[in-house]
Formats: sequence, C-alpha cells, structure tokens
Amino acid sequence: MSKLDTLFEKNREWAHGVKTSDPQFFEKLAAQQSPEYLWIGCSDSRVPANQIVGLMPGEIFVHRNVANMVVHTDFNCLTVLQYAVDVLKVKHIMVVGHYGCGGVAAAYENADNGLIDNWLRNIKDVQHRHRKRIEAIEDKDERLALLCELNVKTQVSHVCHTTIVQNAWQRAQPLAVHGWVYSLKDGLLKDLDCTVTRAEQIADAYRVIAAPDQ
Ligand code: CO
Repeated sequence: MSKLDTLFEKNREWAHGVKTSDPQFFEKLAAQQSPEYLWIGCSDSRVPANQIVGLMPGEIFVHRNVANMVVHTDFNCLTVLQYAVDVLKVKHIMVVGHYGCGGVAAAYENADNGLIDNWLRNIKDVQHRHRKRIEAIEDKDERLALLCELNVKTQVSHVCHTTIVQNAWQRAQPLAVHGWVYSLKDGLLKDLDCTVTRAEQIADAYRVIAAPDQ
C-alpha cells in the first residue's frame, strides 16, 4: 500500500468516527459554516490550528503562510480577512506564531535562501526596529523567541491597520484581534496580552476615518 493510500484509508476512518458520534455532522456542516474565529498562523506542519485548540471542522477559519505574516499587499491574506470579517463575522482573530519558527530564524540568519528572503524581509523590519532589545539578550534561542513574539505583535498591528478591521469597528461589529505564541516543546499556547478591540488602541497615523454620511 502506498503512503497516499494510507491517507485515504485514514480519511475514511476519520469520517466514519465523526459520523458515529454525530450522524448529522457532515450534512449540517455542508449546509453552512459559522466559525467565530479566524486563525492566522504559520504554515509549519507542527502547528495545525484545529488540533491545537481542539476545534472541529466548521469552528475556525484559517489562513497560514510562512511565519504567520499579514502583509498589506498580500491579497490572499486580505481576502481571507475580508471574508472572515464581513461575511462570516468572526468575533476573534488570532495571529499565532510559534517558538522555533524556521521562517523567523531564516530572517535572522542573513543567509541567501532565494525568493523566500523577500517574504522574510518583513521580519527583518521587525528585527531592525527592535534591535536594541534583541541584541541585549546573550542567548541566540532567547533572541529568536523574542523575535517570534515581536513578529506576532507586529502582525496583530497590521491586521488592525487594515480598512477591513477598522470598518468593522466603525459599524460597532464586535471584533477582537489577539496575538498568541505556540510552544513546540509542550504544545501550549501563550497569550501575548496585546489584544486590540477598538480603533482608539491603534496609532493615529494608521487610523481610517470613515467618510461622514451624505
Ligand atoms: Co514557523
């Protein structure tokens, strides 16, 4: 049996298991999804959104890319964000980084990795902006851990700076943006306590002021 056959076999077992505990599960889910959460995380295979927070299909909308970034010109991420906020009306957005992130380490290293370095350049901005705090730390792993956290906080800001999120706040739609970090070593999430729930929490320069009613 090939490895891919094994995947199909596991899939049948999984679907059977879900149906056994809830016979209507797939029918209900096929009709509609109404997740309350949008997870923006790293593509790393060790950080699977649903499993980490114990949620079933249908409960969390997910966007993942290398090093969990929110780049203002990335229409893929913005499209996910817009759909999640405007259509699904998620109540929480969590940017979830993880310690031991290869993308963050690659950005820190200054090595030539090809095209991906252009994507990781965004993390170099974070590193450069916080260089004094980072360089004050002796241990390299601890430096990288801090850079992982600072990257998450920066991406939380980027989510909040979008017109998508600010317009939602403007129309009084409940929406909180959180920054979390996951530890590969013990499987636990840590809240970085940088939750943003309203436009007043972000810097003036990034505020989008809605046009007055006609
Ligand atoms: Co990663």
